[in-house]
Amino acid sequence: MIERKPLIAGNWKMNMNVNDSTELINIIANGIVDYDRVDVLVAPPFTLIPHVKQLIGNSRILLGAQNMHSEISGAYTGEISGPMIKESGCSHVILGHSERRSLFKETSYEINLKVSVAVKLGIIPILCVGESLDQREAGQTFEALKDQLDVSLKNLRDMKNPDISTIIAYEPVWAIGTGKTAAPEQAEEVHQFIRKWIEKNFDSVTARQVRILYGGSVKPGNVSELMSKPDIDGVLVGGASLKGDTFVQIIRYS
Ligand code: PGA
Repeated sequence: MIERKPLIAGNWKMNMNVNDSTELINIIANGIVDYDRVDVLVAPPFTLIPHVKQLIGNSRILLGAQNMHSEISGAYTGEISGPMIKESGCSHVILGHSERRSLFKETSYEINLKVSVAVKLGIIPILCVGESLDQREAGQTFEALKDQLDVSLKNLRDMKNPDISTIIAYEPVWAIGTGKTAAPEQAEEVHQFIRKWIEKNFDSVTARQVRILYGGSVKPGNVSELMSKPDIDGVLVGGASLKGDTFVQIIRYS
């Protein structure tokens, strides 16, 4: 039986500053977290990464970036590369977040390049996928997810390697920042679909090993029910990860 350790990840988006992040990390670090039972990750904006890395120190809080470019270096004004985030101390990177897809027109093809480069560099990608409200209402949820997975994870060989195994985050677009959470049963149904997709495209060991997170209006009040579902292996939290007490309550969900 493969054990999937739960991961509670906070996506700070374009929020926080030096003072607020210092307070937040202190609260998380002092929040009596059993790191043997749960992995905790924060993904600050790029400029705060070195500061947060220092704050984290020897605690077991993991550090992730919210994006990276698919090229290693070069004339890409305003962009940040994989080696740069790695050098700043990031072990993980969120890729293909729906805000990147919708606001910055990132395609699954580009996301696939980023996922492959991250894996090559030894950075663990947290690949976000999710259907829009229109797609859900039109009964196209699974089709939309299949399209995103088919392209975003195309030709990925290293999904099997547990050290750099890609993490998938199911984030229904209609649930992000809206206060509407997918019902735990609704989320579990999609997580099962994603796990079957992995089994079909990789193998059953990989499918059992890959962690699939849920994201979209996760709060202290709904986290335990979501986490009670067998295929929900963690949560990716936006708004509720910005307040120390709230995030600690989510980390200590059970
Ligand atoms: P939310 O965001 O928790 O504020 O809905 C989740 C996300 O975008 O990752």
